[in-house]
Amino acid sequence: MIHFGDLVAVTQERPAERFALDRAYLLLISLICFSWTCCFWLAASSSSAGVPTHLDKTKVKMECSECHKGHGKRGTTMLAKTKDEFCFQCHSMSGKASDIYSQLSKRSNHRILETSRYHVPGEQLPAKDVAAPRHASCYDCHNVHKSEKDAQLKGIRGYAGKGAKPRKMTKEYEVCYNCHADSANLGSDELDVSRDFDPANPSYHPIETYGRNSFVPSLRREYRKSSLIDCSDCHGNDDPSGPKGPHGSIYEPILRYHYVRTQGAESPRAYELCYACHERRSIIGDESFKAHKVHIVYRQISCAQCHDAHGSKYEPALINFDRAAVFPNSLGELIMLPTVQGRPRCALSCHVNGVMYEHKLNRNLVYTVNGRILSEW
Ligand code: HEC
Ligand code: HEC
Ligand code: HEC
Ligand code: HEC
Ligand code: HEC
Ligand code: HEC
Ligand code: HEC
Repeated sequence: MIHFGDLVAVTQERPAERFALDRAYLLLISLICFSWTCCFWLAASSSSAGVPTHLDKTKVKMECSECHKGHGKRGTTMLAKTKDEFCFQCHSMSGKASDIYSQLSKRSNHRILETSRYHVPGEQLPAKDVAAPRHASCYDCHNVHKSEKDAQLKGIRGYAGKGAKPRKMTKEYEVCYNCHADSANLGSDELDVSRDFDPANPSYHPIETYGRNSFVPSLRREYRKSSLIDCSDCHGNDDPSGPKGPHGSIYEPILRYHYVRTQGAESPRAYELCYACHERRSIIGDESFKAHKVHIVYRQISCAQCHDAHGSKYEPALINFDRAAVFPNSLGELIMLPTVQGRPRCALSCHVNGVMYEHKLNRNLVYTVNGRILSEW
């Protein structure tokens, strides 16, 4: 049987023959339409499995022909617009489906408008070629023939990290790892995010697997220590009434909630991101770390100056100190020593509002800050 993809490949190799092939497309599409319609009809009548949204008559009235029409634009699979513009026919302010286009003009976004043209159908991700252009297109994260209301990434290939074989995605993070793990073409300012969530780390937010800490008293009622979360629980639209997904946000880097990462006054809004899942009352009520309040409220230190929102390769409790404010102490130490739950000892110096606070264990192993003994520790 002739594969449609082969035909596409031919047109790409020999552009002069594209026009003649338009007729072949038309015939082929009609045939495929017919067989697909039969398949879907059979599938729909034999099981109640979800129907892909874009092939559901109640949502996209004319099914195939709503998108594939006439001869279509040159070089496309008979689409009315080029592939880069195609989705916005419906997913924009003037379209009849959820407006994704407007998300892309927000301060922080996946630069789809600028880079989607670098997407190549069937490309191998994660990229193996250092020179492959970094990009993101709708087609990297969505399969328009397969996505469903409750399975929006269905039909996309995923990568579990650490050299695993790419396969059909089952969890959202596998789609993100296609580009945010060990891609050969990561920019110099980009990190392999999969290293942050490595289950071998002393601590990590529970994306790949369950978290390590069984004492997280601040968790809101919807979460427990056996909860798993998704990248898009933190990275997504800042507008809770708008379309979900990490398309764009007014908060960098594409965060759903406000999050101050430098020193400043504590408030529900300052650390809105963390308080979405961790009760503020518990955190500044010192239910776990007995010195949360003194640091966060009195010294106005941000969560981000002690914690890494992803995970920590070095310490428990997502501790990964902000090296712009935290330095080795006079003994050259920069470490947290988890001792009694809630009363760890830190050996380090930190710079807060122009003052240096040196934390160290003195010769008799007594814990001091700027030489003052902390009796309750
Ligand atoms: C919502 C719009 C939309 C609808 C509805 C739609 N398609 Fe498509 N189709 C596309 C787009 C976009 C592509 C290009 C996909 C790509 O390159 O990744 C495509 C590509 C194709 C291809 C090329 C091979 C492939 O899968 O990439 C075939 C064949 C196809 N469509 C058949 C159909 C049939 C048959 C129907 C009806 C059952 C249908 N399409 C309904 C948008 C649509
Ligand atoms: C003919 C109009 C139309 C076109 C063209 C179209 N969509 Fe949709 N799409 C819809 C409708 C209607 C919905 C359901 C309601 C909503 O989300 O607004 C939808 C929903 C979705 C969803 C949510 C998951 C789901 O399947 O319900 C995704 C993801 C999506 N579209 C992606 C795309 C992408 C990517 C393209 C371009 C390849 C595209 N759409 C082109 C009409 C369209
Ligand atoms: C980097 C990956 C990525 C890219 C690129 C991307 N999306 Fe999404 N999109 C997602 C994720 C993840 C979700 C689901 C979020 C969730 O479940 O909370 C989503 C959800 C959606 C939805 C459903 C929104 C809702 O609340 O119903 C639509 C529609 C959609 N995307 C369309 C598009 C279109 C059109 C493009 C291209 C302009 C695009 N997406 C590009 C990842 C992506
Ligand atoms: C096809 C590749 C691709 C996929 C898949 C992808 N991204 Fe991205 N992402 C990019 C590119 C390219 C950038 C821009 C990097 C840059 O310009 O520094 C980016 C940037 C980001 C940023 C940072 C923006 C900033 O301003 O620093 C976040 C956060 C992000 N992506 C989250 C996600 C999440 C969550 C997913 C999975 C739902 C995902 N990405 C899937 C390609 C991708
Ligand atoms: C001065 C450093 C520091 C700052 C600032 C800080 N934390 Fe912590 N946090 C810790 C330490 C240390 C622990 C671990 C205590 C232990 O397990 O003995 C901890 C534990 C936690 C825990 C796990 C236990 C629990 O309470 O459920 C959460 C969640 C947490 N912090 C959230 C936050 C949030 C949110 C902020 C900002 C509003 C913040 N932290 C600011 C140092 C800090
Ligand atoms: C608990 C919330 C949370 C979760 C879950 C989360 N992120 Fe992030 N992410 C953040 C925050 C906050 C930053 C900004 C970090 C900073 O600058 O201190 C960030 C930064 C990033 C960046 C920018 C580069 C960097 O590392 O600084 C990328 C890309 C990214 N995240 C991708 C992802 C992906 C992919 C996932 C899922 C595998 C994910 N994130 C899960 C909160 C989260
Ligand atoms: C989408 C929900 C969600 C968000 C947002 C979130 N967390 Fe968490 N966090 C969790 C869950 C679930 C756990 C429990 C994991 C476990 O049992 O180890 C957790 C655990 C933690 C822990 C303890 C981890 C350990 O191994 O000791 C710390 C510290 C923490 N979070 C800090 C933060 C900070 C700081 C922010 C804001 C940047 C934040 N969290 C945002 C869901 C979230």
